[in-house]
Amino acid sequence: MNEIIIYKSKTGFTKQYAMWISEETGIEAKSIKGIKLKSLKDYDRVIYGESIMASTIRYYKKIRQYNPNIVCFAVGLSSYEEVNIEDIKAKSEIDGELFFLRGGVNFDKLSFISRFLLKKVTGYKENQDFTNKEAIKNIVNYVKG
Ligand SMILES: Cc1cc2nc3c(=O)[nH]c(=O)nc-3n(C[C@H](O)[C@H](O)[C@H](O)COP(=O)(O)O)c2cc1C
Repeated sequence: MNEIIIYKSKTGFTKQYAMWISEETGIEAKSIKGIKLKSLKDYDRVIYGESIMASTIRYYKKIRQYNPNIVCFAVGLSSYEEVNIEDIKAKSEIDGELFFLRGGVNFDKLSFISRFLLKKVTGYKENQDFTNKEAIKNIVNYVKG
C-alpha cells in the first residue's frame, strides 16, 4: 500500500507522534506545510495527525476532499480518561478511525491569546509534556493491519 503520514502541528507535539509512527511503520511523515494537497490523491491511504483545538480537528474535512481514506490521530492536552472521542468525531465530521494521543503544552511557542486561554482553562502554569511513545501502539497496530 502506498501511504503517507501528514501532520499539522503548532508547537511540536503532533510532529513528535508523527515521527514515532513513521519510525514504527516505515511510512514517510511530512508536515502539511511542505506538501501540495493535490498530491494526497496519489496515495492509497493517508495517516493524518492534528492537534485538537476546542474539541475539533479543523483540517480533517480539507484533507478528506483530496483523499477519503484517512486514519486520523488527534493530539490534545486532555488525559486519556477525560477525552471525549465521540464529541471530537462529531465536531470534526470524522466518520473513519480516530486515535487520541496525549500531547502537552509549550507556552513559549503560543501566541499571547492562546497562552492566556489555555492557562485559564487548564490551570497549568508551566510547560507540560505528556508525549509517550508507548501510546502509539494502537494506531501502529491498526495501520500495520
Ligand atoms: C486555543 C487552544 C485550544 C485547545 N483546545 C483543546 C481541546 O479542546 N482539547 C484538548 O485535549 N487539547 C486542546 N488544546 C491543547 C492542544 O491540543 C495541545 O497543546 C497539543 O499537544 C498541541 O499540539 P501541537 O504542538 O502539535 O499543535 C488546545 C490548545 C489551544 C492553544
